[in-house]
Amino acid sequence: MNLNMGAVRNPPRHVTFGAVAFFIIVLFVVFTPRTPHLDVSRLQSSTGSAAPPAAAAAPAGGKTSSKTSSSGSGSAPAAYKSNAEKLYGNDYHGHSSPSDINRVTNDTLGFSKIFVVGLPERSDKRDAIALTSSLTGFHVDWVDGVKGESIPDKAVPFGTDRKKLWESNLGSWRGHMNAIRRIVEDDLESALIMEDDMDWDVRLKPQLERVAQGARALLGSKSNPASPYGDDWDILWLGHCGEVFPELLDENKGKPADDKGIKYMQRKFVIEKDATVPPLDKVTGLIDFKASPEHTRWVHITGAPICTFAYALSQKGARKVLFDLSVDHLNGPFDNSLAWLCRRAVSSVGAPEEKAGDRGLDTKCLSVTPPIFFHHKAKGMMSGDSDIQTVADGAVREKGVTENIVWSARNNIRNMIMGTRMESQYEDISSSKSS
Ligand SMILES: *[C@@H]1O[C@H](CO)[C@@H](O)[C@H](O)[C@H]1NC(C)=O
Repeated sequence: MNLNMGAVRNPPRHVTFGAVAFFIIVLFVVFTPRTPHLDVSRLQSSTGSAAPPAAAAAPAGGKTSSKTSSSGSGSAPAAYKSNAEKLYGNDYHGHSSPSDINRVTNDTLGFSKIFVVGLPERSDKRDAIALTSSLTGFHVDWVDGVKGESIPDKAVPFGTDRKKLWESNLGSWRGHMNAIRRIVEDDLESALIMEDDMDWDVRLKPQLERVAQGARALLGSKSNPASPYGDDWDILWLGHCGEVFPELLDENKGKPADDKGIKYMQRKFVIEKDATVPPLDKVTGLIDFKASPEHTRWVHITGAPICTFAYALSQKGARKVLFDLSVDHLNGPFDNSLAWLCRRAVSSVGAPEEKAGDRGLDTKCLSVTPPIFFHHKAKGMMSGDSDIQTVADGAVREKGVTENIVWSARNNIRNMIMGTRMESQYEDISSSKSS
């Protein structure tokens, strides 16, 4: 006792230092503000709410509502201030809770790899992807696209009529398959695969934080999953031309509300006041956007999307797709066949065994609507748009456009290089001048 008192009255130097340092750390920990969400004044996309039973799994703060909502005008966030935190590039590290979600901001967007599929001779598209991906802050690997004519009859899957399918669709299918086979062969935990004409919002990383929260909430992820998107998904369909929600598909419409499958497929993670969603009169797709407030985005169970602009596969998902769309059979174009796998799976949830068919290998597919990847139509010859279809020979486009993307990375390359204000595809000229 005496000894202790003596130490308190006359502490040795290192004890004093230790105590002071300890208090500083305590003060730091106590007073550091926790920001589970992005600063809503910069990206008004903070309200995530998931339908039960996923709500319990929703990350803390998933229901925070945003303070500001200057979304009425439908324009981009008030202004891009150069002193505001940059939401793109390698310096953006995320603000999500739980913090392991912030792994989606890494150099491969939280996946093991990112593959871009495209014909090697389309150097124009490779140049553009090199710039947009590095300026946004991620790294891609190329997988060479394939020309249909180079595929011998013997290599064409069971069930394929190559005349009906077209050589170009066959080539596209093979390009995707080669990317998917890399996931399986290299035993990657996951990969994002995209087509070579992709565009996205410069704020892709903050968007993916929301997507990861949604994916975890919808499939009830356990804590500390190996993937920041949770561990139960097979396919994350991030870029598509549009889709209806699965409960609205013909085979599901008549099911009773308390059906197990209906309850599963109705799950939605709603992102409200998302400034990266275009105004209502501009957003495109197959659902009735006007039935919900402007600037709403959903992470939801996949119905049957059209187009495979960009999708992620887990290792498990890649094995299912390589089996179902190549080794086992192929019935149509790649995008329809991938959608058909998801659709068979979702429509057999809760169905009695005799009606469930092959259950679509129980593939767990999630989508984002409106999508966060979309194909860019570059300025110049319109015939350059697609390597699958031939379009509008001779016609020229004056300015590049991408549907559904507000701050198009492709149209803001110059601004990202120069550090100047981002341009929205949807703001009118007067408002862009005033801000
Ligand atoms: C990014 O995060 C994912 C998930 O944790 C990981 O698998 C991947 O290797 C990371 N990428 C890089 C470049 O570190």
